[in-house]
Amino acid sequence: MSIESRIASNQPKSFKFSKENEAKIKRVIAKYPKGRQASAVMPLLDLAQRQHDNWIPMKAIELIASKLEMAEIRVLEVATFYTMFNLKPVGQFFLQACTTTPCWLRGSDEMMRAIKDRYNISSGEISACGRFSLLEVECLGACVNAPILQVNDDFYEDLDYQTTIELLESLESGAPLPVGSVLGRSGSEATEGATTLASIKSKKAAARAAKKRSSANAK
Ligand code: FES
Repeated sequence: MSIESRIASNQPKSFKFSKENEAKIKRVIAKYPKGRQASAVMPLLDLAQRQHDNWIPMKAIELIASKLEMAEIRVLEVATFYTMFNLKPVGQFFLQACTTTPCWLRGSDEMMRAIKDRYNISSGEISACGRFSLLEVECLGACVNAPILQVNDDFYEDLDYQTTIELLESLESGAPLPVGSVLGRSGSEATEGATTLASIKSKKAAARAAKKRSSANAK
């Protein structure tokens, strides 16, 4: 993907951080030693994106560069390296679909097919309704519950064709499915349920406590 295609052609003439974000920026920069303020570049890009409808205009890149005393190209390099930063408008639901090996082995092709069938979009495109953007990304760091679809800040896990469609329908209707594994597994437990000694023990303890409670209530 060329750099030109990643940056919005229609740019605002100015960008200013809100008062609230200026206060946050002060706190973020204060976390780093003097002369190392460039380390705050990612939190500042994140603040700019959240403030500006989920994408970062070039005026914000310039402003961040001047605040952190960095060359503008250095800030742009960071913003273009990480797929979580958008340099052009995206839909209300920004879908980042992981297709790296563990997700691919666990069916990310089917997850992608469901998104394409529903909105007729490929990576880097926005649906005709303007509400959904799709981006194919590398490992999201949650391989254990692959395949993963990130929707804005949330991870949906263990998806297949049908559950991806159900998830998209739930987003469209304004009543999103619960975040996490669509199979309902807790954390990274095995797909067939808890198998470790600790989790089995805690399940047995919970069952004993429930039994005690019900016999106490019966008296
Ligand atoms: S490979 Fe998809 S989350 Fe790691």
